[in-house]
Amino acid sequence: MRATTSARARIANANALKATTKRIARGARGTRGAVRVEAKRTADGPKVVIAGITGAVGQEFLRVLKERDFPYSEMKMLASARSAGSKVDFDGETYVVEELTESSFDGQDIALFSAGGSISKKFGPVAVEKGCFVVDNSSAFRMTDGVPLVIPEVNPEAMAHLKLGGKAGIIANPNCSTIIALMAVTPIHRAVGVERIVVSTYQAASGAGALAMKELEQQTREVVNDGECKTMEIFQWQYAFNLFSHNAPMTENGYNEEEMKMVKETRKIWDFKDVNITATCIRVPVMRAHAESINLTLKNPLDEVKAKEILSSAAGVSIIDDRAANRFPTPLDATDNDDVYVGRIRQDISQPNNKGLDLFVCGDQIKKGAALNAVQCAELLLK
Ligand SMILES: NC(=O)c1ccc[n+]([C@@H]2O[C@H](COP(=O)([O-])OP(=O)(O)OC[C@H]3O[C@@H](n4cnc5c(N)ncnc54)[C@H](OP(=O)(O)O)[C@@H]3O)[C@@H](O)[C@H]2O)c1
Repeated sequence: MRATTSARARIANANALKATTKRIARGARGTRGAVRVEAKRTADGPKVVIAGITGAVGQEFLRVLKERDFPYSEMKMLASARSAGSKVDFDGETYVVEELTESSFDGQDIALFSAGGSISKKFGPVAVEKGCFVVDNSSAFRMTDGVPLVIPEVNPEAMAHLKLGGKAGIIANPNCSTIIALMAVTPIHRAVGVERIVVSTYQAASGAGALAMKELEQQTREVVNDGECKTMEIFQWQYAFNLFSHNAPMTENGYNEEEMKMVKETRKIWDFKDVNITATCIRVPVMRAHAESINLTLKNPLDEVKAKEILSSAAGVSIIDDRAANRFPTPLDATDNDDVYVGRIRQDISQPNNKGLDLFVCGDQIKKGAALNAVQCAELLLK
């Protein structure tokens, strides 16, 4: 059940939560944090629509577009009727949020969707019909034949046929846990081949949206102050000081949908059906940024020194791997940063002949797992 909150309150909540996560992240920046620049408003830039502007990902789109100097001529902010009329500031201008309707996409060039799967399903094809490219954060089209599922550092070639000015189409952003895992595992796969992946996730509240972050904060206050958790509107269990199996629906084989997304999407992104993957996805009471423990079975031998070298030169990957200091990636390292952080890079002693490798990975799933990846895809449309 979702809590009902006024549109203005939701935007205020999202901003307050952003301030909270920034506070938490203070002093924990990675080595390659994004450089802040003003977004580039230019008369010949594309007309950009953000669908789901009041949500956790929608708010992050604004920051990423600004940080990356994304060119645009006009910007349109969409959400549900609940939010229509509320205001959003971007790049020195104040925009009035509009209700998302079919006509929202008339004359638009690129739509960044983060308003949930049913909205993407209904309005994504409408936008494309009107000549507007869609980069979709939901799972609506990820496994649809003909829709590229893209991580720009991994498989940009999948969307090479889609360019602004050409025939419009949908590009799907993979699931956030899949993106974070594959940013680290793909360089290893390219070097020696990966035959099997065993992954366990530790997923943050922000993966479930702005209201889930708010609930974790509220529950934490309640437990600390009153000794009792009273607010359980987003999740049916106490989240503060607890963890539980991911809230995605269970499927017939005993895996939940989040776990099966990691399995299916990896095969599509790598265009490699024979990779064996098993996943266990867990929600942990972290505000923002997912962590993943990843065990690999390799086709060809690779020692841990070489693995570290490969990962050190991989685009979008930073290493935090100091055994002497017991210093490895944490969600706070990743919070607000573009890169995926990798550590605990070690030989799996249970697999002989250097054919097994263990990694621990952290990535900001609202950023690289959603908004940043989508904006990078939009950038590929411009090239
Ligand atoms: N959070 C993540 O880390 C993450 C990562 C990858 C992918 N995603 C995907 O991105 C999407 C958004 O996630 P989120 O975390 O940003 O969720 P969220 O914080 O709950 O935000 C949802 C957004 O969708 C809008 N919306 C809801 N119903 C709508 C309707 N009928 N018409 C138009 N807009 C509507 C909401 O507008 P109102 O405020 O008006 O209700 C809000 O802007 C989901 O599909 C999610 O699976 C999220």
